[in-house]
Amino acid sequence: MRHFLEVDDLSKDELLTVLDLSEIENPDRVLTNQSVGLVFEKASLRTRNSCEAAVVQLGGHPVSIAAGEVGIDKRESAEDVARTLACYHSFIGARVFDHSVLVRMARAVDDLGAGAQIINLLSDSSHPCQAIADLLTIRSHVGFSPDVKVAYVGDSNNVTHSLAIGALMAGLKVSVASPNGYWFPQDERDELAGFGEISFVEDPYQAVFGADVVYTDVWTSMGKEEERNQRLRDFQGYCVDSSLMAKASSQAIVMHCLPAHEGEEISREVLESPASVVWEQARNRMKAMRGLFQFMSGVR
Ligand code: CP
Ligand code: NVA
Repeated sequence: MRHFLEVDDLSKDELLTVLDLSEIENPDRVLTNQSVGLVFEKASLRTRNSCEAAVVQLGGHPVSIAAGEVGIDKRESAEDVARTLACYHSFIGARVFDHSVLVRMARAVDDLGAGAQIINLLSDSSHPCQAIADLLTIRSHVGFSPDVKVAYVGDSNNVTHSLAIGALMAGLKVSVASPNGYWFPQDERDELAGFGEISFVEDPYQAVFGADVVYTDVWTSMGKEEERNQRLRDFQGYCVDSSLMAKASSQAIVMHCLPAHEGEEISREVLESPASVVWEQARNRMKAMRGLFQFMSGVR
């Protein structure tokens, strides 16, 4: 495997292997004498810390770089940033606004014949490292069986996209409820439907009905802050609260990638309820990165 820009850069078997590798508590130090460059165009708490911790646990050295220090396509092109980082690092993780920046970085290091591998740490269209952690969490609580239903309520965004691909690849059913105007475009809905059984609805109660997993994320993702007031109006009725949870399976778990905005996409009561597994998800971010780095280093 070369780069990891979206969950389906892995085959289904490879995805399951990454999940198994993620569960190893004391993995071999596969990054010994290697370093990893981590570039952030946007804020991050979980992703930066889980990546750095995972790299150290695998014997490597992480170098985190904030947007202003690099200036992707401002101080120098995304290609030159990638080619430069590839001189020093085995892996380049990047959190970017425009997903095509990651594609350009991957192409640039490939064209150079540099061995560095690019990892998507969140783009406007996907968040695959989060999805690996989410799948670890789902597998440990409800298992992977074809009758498991994952309901996503809220904005059809980067987290939704990668979660849907991952859950469908794991053989689960997915239902996404977003208000009119916040659905994935038709071509993306078609692409997702190619992975398995997924429905797109407007009614959150319909999506959550009988669900084993209820997932939500912020209504206003990073980069869309100027739309916040409009979104607060448009997403009324999409809060994951106890009345919505009453429609899910009685054993349902509640998931959120965090950061959460209590009282908007999720109520405090639900976030702190026994059904909530959000802190386990956050912890699983580090395990997921350990599994991914092992896999991308050739461990099987
Ligand atoms: N869930 C997640 O990616 O969190 P951060 O934005 O804090 O990294
Ligand atoms: N959808 C959110 C996820 C943050 C982890 C965002 O892009 O801001």
